[in-house]
Amino acid sequence: MHTASAPGKVYLFGEHAVVYGEPAIPCAVERRATVTVEERSDGRLRVDAQDLHIEGFTVEYGETGPAVDAPKAVLEAATEYVDGAIAQVRDAADAPGAGFDVTIESDIPLGAGLGSSAAVVVASIAAATSELGVELDPREVAERAYQVELNVQDGQASRADTFCSAMGGAVRVEGDDCRTIDAPDLPFVIGFDGGSGDTGKLVAGVRELREQYDFAADTVAAIGDVVREGETLLAESQGGATVDDDVLTELGQLMNFDHGLLEALGVSSRSLDDMVWTAREAGAHGAKLTGAGGGGCIVALDRSDGTETALSYEAACQEVFRAELAHEGVRLE
Ligand code: PMV
Repeated sequence: MHTASAPGKVYLFGEHAVVYGEPAIPCAVERRATVTVEERSDGRLRVDAQDLHIEGFTVEYGETGPAVDAPKAVLEAATEYVDGAIAQVRDAADAPGAGFDVTIESDIPLGAGLGSSAAVVVASIAAATSELGVELDPREVAERAYQVELNVQDGQASRADTFCSAMGGAVRVEGDDCRTIDAPDLPFVIGFDGGSGDTGKLVAGVRELREQYDFAADTVAAIGDVVREGETLLAESQGGATVDDDVLTELGQLMNFDHGLLEALGVSSRSLDDMVWTAREAGAHGAKLTGAGGGGCIVALDRSDGTETALSYEAACQEVFRAELAHEGVRLE
């Protein structure tokens, strides 16, 4: 039996614009998906996902696919991604007939901009390959996990989530160019409205606006400028060290700018905006939506308790938590 875990992430800057070749900076956060895998002798795959922030269920299936009555999104979350991960594992270990019992636990809200599916895929690949005696380095896990996301999401996936989850820390993604970057420990506060957005629809909406209006294309390009500015700021501050307030203030200002541009592109929502404003009024250095938008999570920077307390009283916010930068990406437990 082998267990691996992998972190979720927030976008410090750059979601949506990354789809058009601009850079983005996601940061791994200490909310993890943990996957335990045990090889089965009959070549079948059994997935147990009781704790995915969705109604618990167990599904057992072999070559004929899953036989269970559950919403497609729920099934996808627990089976299509895991199925894809196991296909990668069989390929990596040259073991086409390998079967597994897979148990997934996760404290990452599902489909809410925190990279839950990437974390599950990354942890599944690491756990199942080591169950077969194969050690993959995190970059290879990231590459294989990306292929899974690409496949499940019909060719619509950036490398950001999977690379960040596998490597940990802060990363910079620009097209196929993925690197880890130094970043200080940032005081992230995450607000979750209890919902999620439809990534495909939101991405398509931005694409249409961008084609229709030059100023929408300029807005996307401006997000790229915000990211480059933020990158310079991170490079100047000392990675790993406690960040000083001036840097937090400027990072927060850039986050606010980024949120405004995303709002203009139509990917925010009333609940996300309410949480963003509550965070700002409570003294956060900055706040923005994270991920595709439309609902889900915001991320704010605040070292004090102010934002956490204010969000806990905010009607639009169902859950609020602090999340440290996860320096470690995928790891065997
Ligand atoms: O909501 P998430 O965490 O899947 O992030 C989506 C980020 C987008 O830039 C909108 C799309 C992408 O694939 O990069």
